[in-house]
Amino acid sequence: MDTSIPSADIDMSSLKSASLSQQMFSLASSTFRLAATALTRLQQQQEQCQAELASLAHLPEYSLEQVSWHDRPDDCWIVLNDKVYNVTKLVHNHPGGMEVMMEQAGRDATLAFRSVGHSIDAIEQVDEFLVGILPAKERIYLRSQRSLGFCADAAHAFSIAGRDTAENPVATIQ
Ligand code: HEM
Repeated sequence: MDTSIPSADIDMSSLKSASLSQQMFSLASSTFRLAATALTRLQQQQEQCQAELASLAHLPEYSLEQVSWHDRPDDCWIVLNDKVYNVTKLVHNHPGGMEVMMEQAGRDATLAFRSVGHSIDAIEQVDEFLVGILPAKERIYLRSQRSLGFCADAAHAFSIAGRDTAENPVATIQ
């Protein structure tokens, strides 16, 4: 008995193209799912940001320049994540020492604070020193409108790198 498959019954080219279109469909749906996830994440971030801004609305605004006037051990302010902290009472008791604190006095200390890898306790402790918020035009992290969050993040990282240096302690971010 002849068990071989008659070659005329299988159209190899249609099989190949069906598999290619399946692959393209799968790729397109994965891309769509990825974009949808990214958009949802962005929306969640915006909502969190709006909620945080609303909770900070009662605070007075201080510019980076105003913060820079408080750069002494007996009058020490810093900026963390766009929020202004009067850490005068902490300077002499800071577990990491007074010196590191004074290096940041009157400046945006966000990157320095983060790079230390402070504990959750330390992060929660900062709230007790909160006295204000930067004006909207100087904010990097707390923005109500962020249509392109991922682009904004890169730009923010760039701008804070610029204002977080000794050469440029009070640069205004537009
Ligand atoms: C309100 C602001 C701050 C608070 C409440 C705070 C609190 C603390 C606390 C509780 C610790 C003990 C270790 C821990 O629990 O993580 C610590 C350690 C330390 N902090 Fe801060 N800190 C503040 C700002 C800063 C800033 C601006 C710097 C600048 C770089 C800094 C640098 C350090 C260093 C270097 C240590 C030692 C870390 C170690 O020994 O592993 N801190 N801080």
